[in-house]
Amino acid sequence: MSERTPSGSTPETPIIRLESVSKSFGSIQALDDISLEFPTGRTTVVLGPSGCGKSVMLKHIIGLLRPDRGKVWFQSQRVDQLREHELVDIRRRVGFLFQQGALFDSMTVGQNIAFPLREHTSISRPDRFKRVDRMLELVGVPGTAHRMPAELSGGQRKRIALARSIVLEPEVILYDEPTTGLDPIRSDVIAQLILRLQDTLSLTSIVVTHDIQTAFKIADTMVMMNNGRILMSGAPELFEASDDEVIRRFLDGQASPEELGELTDSFQGTDL
Ligand SMILES: Nc1ncnc2c1ncn2[C@@H]1O[C@H](COP(=O)(O)OP(=O)(O)OP(=O)(O)O)[C@@H](O)[C@H]1O
Ligand SMILES: [Mg+2]
Repeated sequence: MSERTPSGSTPETPIIRLESVSKSFGSIQALDDISLEFPTGRTTVVLGPSGCGKSVMLKHIIGLLRPDRGKVWFQSQRVDQLREHELVDIRRRVGFLFQQGALFDSMTVGQNIAFPLREHTSISRPDRFKRVDRMLELVGVPGTAHRMPAELSGGQRKRIALARSIVLEPEVILYDEPTTGLDPIRSDVIAQLILRLQDTLSLTSIVVTHDIQTAFKIADTMVMMNNGRILMSGAPELFEASDDEVIRRFLDGQASPEELGELTDSFQGTDL
């Protein structure tokens, strides 16, 4: 099992690098000595069971969480050592589509997307409108700027949240579960969108997902996490060929006997 790309592949310059990062919350070890590199201009998909540390790992990249031990690099900068006001620059350069993807309900779609522009830039109102319209076209929901988030479907809201994450034209975008709660067709739309943004804006993408179909559609590289550690990383073909039991069960969507045991235990004593 390797934490590197398979031997023989050309080494690529990482834009983001985690070096022996550990993070605990009380007795929960969320990240346990993780080392990872994210190559520039590529899409890395991070897989792993619920609670294995994926979102915590993403939050370290933009300094929303700080490691107990280890280093987090953005190019040659130590993100884990930056002060809050110094992190602003990193957060402009790294877009984040949060797992909860929350839009501001009291603002229109257009105001939601323009929000980072108002916070971080001094571009004029007409230019803001133009930029918002361009983003809406890019994510495939043109002409919705005047609508309220509550009037939109879950899939449309994800796309608006995505538009807001890319409006500052970041170099990197972190997607935390971009397809959760969407049907397979809508998930495919998001997958195609991730590929299109990658092409149009030459982004580096890091995508956390449980959605295996989406993962194989978009991944240049894959990382599998388990219990706060890296179980395997490398090309998608390496994962398809893997006979590691945890990886196989995850890719095939099969619970382990222990996981099924937990379910049986929790049903005992209930009238079903
Ligand atoms: N702010 C926090 N305070 C305390 N515990 C936390 C905090 N954030 C995460 N954890 C714990 O750290 C572990 C890893 O959480 P994380 O959110 O990274 O999981 P995940 O892999 O993203 O799971 P999911 O697929 O369900 O989103 C979990 O046990 C979680 O309860
Ligand atoms: Mg998560």
